[in-house]
Amino acid sequence: MNERLEKDLKSIDQVLNQTLDLGLAYLNRLDSVPTSVEVAEADKIILEDVGLGGSNTIEQFKNKYEKLMVASAGPRYWGFVTGGSTPAALAGDILASIYDQNTQTNKGHGDVSALIEFQTIDLLLDLFELPKDFMGGFVTGATMSNFTCLGVARQWVGNQLGMDIGKDGMTRPFKVLSAVPHSSAIKALSMLGLGSKNIVKVKVLEGNREAIDIVDLEQKIKGLHGEPFILISSGGTVNTVDFDDLEAIAKLKAKYNFWWHIDAAFGGFAILSKDHRHLLKGWEKADSITIDGHKWLNVPYESAFYFIKKEHRLLQVETFQNSNAPYLGDPLDNFNYLNFLPENSRRFKALPAWFTLTAYGRMGYQEIIERNIACAVELGNFIEQHDKFQLLAPVRLNTVCFALAGADADSKTKVFLNKLNDTGKVFMTPTNFDGKSGIRAAIVNWRTTIKDIELVQSLMTEVVSGL
Ligand SMILES: Cc1ncc(COP(=O)(O)O)c(C=O)c1O
Repeated sequence: MNERLEKDLKSIDQVLNQTLDLGLAYLNRLDSVPTSVEVAEADKIILEDVGLGGSNTIEQFKNKYEKLMVASAGPRYWGFVTGGSTPAALAGDILASIYDQNTQTNKGHGDVSALIEFQTIDLLLDLFELPKDFMGGFVTGATMSNFTCLGVARQWVGNQLGMDIGKDGMTRPFKVLSAVPHSSAIKALSMLGLGSKNIVKVKVLEGNREAIDIVDLEQKIKGLHGEPFILISSGGTVNTVDFDDLEAIAKLKAKYNFWWHIDAAFGGFAILSKDHRHLLKGWEKADSITIDGHKWLNVPYESAFYFIKKEHRLLQVETFQNSNAPYLGDPLDNFNYLNFLPENSRRFKALPAWFTLTAYGRMGYQEIIERNIACAVELGNFIEQHDKFQLLAPVRLNTVCFALAGADADSKTKVFLNKLNDTGKVFMTPTNFDGKSGIRAAIVNWRTTIKDIELVQSLMTEVVSGL
């Protein structure tokens, strides 16, 4: 064995303890770690013939890069939709790396990881109050979950039209309807060969809304004269967390022949808020649902899951089967995740979710969701009352979409955001909404409290008065 490897094998305790010390030092000062840093070009690096060994590599990383790690796991990182990691989720994630299982099958010889993934899906169906007629699995993010769900949707429409798209490719086009799909769903359409430009845009409701206009939707459906199609609906748009009327769509689903997909990447967690759970009424009638783990479930990147109705199992296999591997057996007799989703080899992605759900239960998650929503509402109230800011949309859940008020609002908003982010104490991301430059603050971190909101309110006041 190579000398360095042999040494690390003998001193694996030291290498891992050193790793934990480094990680814990970051976590214990997370509140004061900057939320953004200036990063110059990365140094040129060459591969040495003789490596440094684990311990020295950790030291080198620490000296060069540790100070550049931003507090994206912290309570005031409100850019994109970035969750943190609960302690139990971290435990599960670290162990997933240590055990390094290749999560595949629930039967025969192998390991227990696929069974634990099944259990985790059951825990999640309980959390989201969804029936057990969905099957689920873990993928890397909501983008891949949308891709997986829409892949099966494509096979379903093909099947309705007499095509086996998985085998023969698309021999004729069909329609995909949506109002304000997330960019990742559009990307999925492009990856699936359905064409990102081929969406039939349904109108949104009047009054600055991003939710689908159900009347227009029904008209567009009637215009298809019974042709099967895919509907991509939003269980929370990314800008303003507007929800399509899922209950009304469920009724349309009973009348017309379409595949109903809901992207509820973070909005699905509204089920845990007594004031917002009504937004998801009817979602159990969907064919497929996307939800992210690395957002409001607060497990580390990369984690998301899909729920697809069990009745579509065969279509799912037709889409994803790894057909030229006889050693894996018949895909329908021998369940194996690799026949149900894009990846073949798979990390034990369910373990962090299993740990955190087991550790904190429904009430733990309810508390996070309701606290985060209360924080967003508080920030929204502050913005509404401040004469230098304006809300671009009401705070519907956990996201605050706002801009500066008054003359030159567009250019001032951009300058303000840069200055605010430069403080390193909070991070928000830019957006465009209703033809205006805006700012989004998405609060999905289990650590965020009202104290963080108060701190950011003072910072915002300070920065806006200095413009
Ligand atoms: C509604 C929605 N769908 C999909 C995504 C894509 O998620 P991911 O980055 O996990 O792939 C996001 C990300 O913000 C989202 O908000």
